[in-house]
Amino acid sequence: MQMPYGETFQSVISSIKYAHGSFNAILLLIFLYQGWLGLRIRGRRKSGKPSEVQFAVRHRNLGMFLPFLVIAGFGGGIGAVFLSLDDFFVYPVHFLNGLALSFLVVATSLISKKIRARENEWRNIHYYIGVTIIFLFAVQVYFGLSMLFGV
Ligand code: HEM
Ligand code: HEM
Repeated sequence: MQMPYGETFQSVISSIKYAHGSFNAILLLIFLYQGWLGLRIRGRRKSGKPSEVQFAVRHRNLGMFLPFLVIAGFGGGIGAVFLSLDDFFVYPVHFLNGLALSFLVVATSLISKKIRARENEWRNIHYYIGVTIIFLFAVQVYFGLSMLFGV
């Protein structure tokens, strides 16, 4: 396909997908850390041991940024495809999974605000959505790497 840009600019555009992949690979590590903190909070609570406040504070503080970071990752993906192919929704599975992922991160973040000291309903919903997020993220990485390297 004839591209409307010069060669140098073209090569910059075609490398944006690697920036998108790297950004989201780092984001996956941050999510794994967030999940680990959450499981630690849950484990302590269930075993009746006193909570480790520093882990809950870290989990909450990190959680404030995650919705913005995941939406930035989603927007970056659309931007990468749009700049190189002048189109979007070229990879429907990756697109829809990314949309579901972003939605669930925003949802679990809002739900976390409803968690109260002596109740388990919202806490458990938050936990199940969190586990789903980690799973969908791993699926997203698998499809993303297949798109990058054709594996
Ligand atoms: C996306 C932003 C997130 C925010 C704002 C957030 C916020 C919170 C808050 C406020 C709590 C209560 C902590 C306390 O008891 O003091 C909590 C607990 C927890 N979070 Fe998150 N969280 C987020 C993402 C995640 C993710 C991705 C996971 C992955 C599994 C996760 C797993 C957990 C778990 C397991 C608990 C402990 C629940 C329990 O005590 O049984 N969270 N979170
Ligand atoms: C390591 C993880 C990831 C890798 C390796 C990866 C890789 C890719 C690649 C290679 C593309 C096509 C870019 C192009 O052709 O210019 C793409 C597009 C895209 N990515 Fe990712 N991605 C990853 C994670 C994510 C995540 C976590 C999200 C969502 C939050 C996401 C959302 C998107 C979107 C929306 C597109 C555009 C799809 C379309 O319009 O057809 N990606 N990604």
